[in-house]
Amino acid sequence: VVLDYSMLKNRQGCSFVEGSWWGGVQMGPPDPILGVSEAFKKDSNPKKMNLGVGAYRDDQGKPFVLSCVRKAEALISAKQMDKEYLGITGLADFNKSCAKLALGADSEVLKSGRNITVQTISGTGSLRIGANFLSRFHGGPRDVYLPKPSWGNHTPIFKDAGMTLKAYRYYDPATCGFDHSGALEDISKIPEQSVIMLHACAHNPTGVDPRPEQWKEISDLVKKRNLLVFFDMAYQGFASGDIDKDAWAVRYFIEQGHNIVLSQSFAKNMGLYGERVGGFTVVCNDAEEAKRVESQLKILIRPIYSNPPMNGARIASTILNTPELYSVWLGEVHGMANRIIKMREQLEAGLKKEGSTRDWQHVIDQIGMFCFTGLKPEQVERLTKEFSVYMTKDGRISMAGVTSGNVGYLAAGIHAVTK
Ligand SMILES: Cc1ncc(COP(=O)(O)O)c(C=O)c1O
Repeated sequence: VVLDYSMLKNRQGCSFVEGSWWGGVQMGPPDPILGVSEAFKKDSNPKKMNLGVGAYRDDQGKPFVLSCVRKAEALISAKQMDKEYLGITGLADFNKSCAKLALGADSEVLKSGRNITVQTISGTGSLRIGANFLSRFHGGPRDVYLPKPSWGNHTPIFKDAGMTLKAYRYYDPATCGFDHSGALEDISKIPEQSVIMLHACAHNPTGVDPRPEQWKEISDLVKKRNLLVFFDMAYQGFASGDIDKDAWAVRYFIEQGHNIVLSQSFAKNMGLYGERVGGFTVVCNDAEEAKRVESQLKILIRPIYSNPPMNGARIASTILNTPELYSVWLGEVHGMANRIIKMREQLEAGLKKEGSTRDWQHVIDQIGMFCFTGLKPEQVERLTKEFSVYMTKDGRISMAGVTSGNVGYLAAGIHAVTK
């Protein structure tokens, strides 16, 4: 008998109240990130800024569709393809190129066929399939250790799959940087065979990544503790502008003998947010084990959504498998990352220009879409109330929502609430 732990853990049964089946259902809180967007929409201030949600904007503040995506769409449309169901694991060409993008063309894992990669409903769907897989098959403790803090959705994803959440130190508020010694100390105490979640690059929400020599120490320690590594790679290319550099930690861990599981998203690096394109990979001991894992992933996926949607996977696969489009894409990823880096520099310079005497170096040093400003909840509240700048309560801002036109306004606002 396979027990569905999520059913047991999440049951909030209500009795028949006031003559309705759902009379006892309590009002839930709004989503902490999507709730910010709702509040933003209601604000009539023309200078308002939405720095809550992590979606890239161009320098005019407009959603950005990559030209390689437009070109891929035209190629796909010209082919007049059918819309039959995909298989349970998705589009085979996509899965192959998705794994190649993460692991590298020369990966020994790919050559020996000891991975299984399935198409998923973006990064979130990938994490959830991964969480369900661990919940059903991981033989070690049911504890998943997240960096403190981590992306807000990690906790409910793993909890709903019946796993237990624990944490290891990651962010040091004193330096607005990586707490390397704290992380190592905590990881050294994690019970053997537990699961550890690592953000491959551009850590969300802090924008703080370990340096390569720090990753090496983490890898050694994780090996000593015999932990199962779950890499979440939602921002490949977004951290440095270079897809290989951003995949360094994932590839290094595999080289060191870690049989990782990996979640990938194409929301950010291809701007395919609403298309919901992602991949979930399990690195196995050998090809035969990979086949067995694949069979169980199919059994897991089939009763959830049967098979994934095809449009976004076709777009991503066309880009990854058409050399001209692939090189356009690399240029565009680089362009997006560079614009974000420029905004970091301008924000730091703007704060200095406003007369702030605080040290804002972390705004420049942090990596990827987000900046963990260090603003306190009451300062965030003032920034929203007085300047119509919307962000999450933890002081995280999406640098991708800042433009050359409004970076000065943002700097003035931050200075006003922090002086
Ligand atoms: C760390 C992290 N993981 C996964 C995701 C998944 O995003 P999506 O489901 O849109 O691919 C995100 C998106 O913000 C993220 O920041």
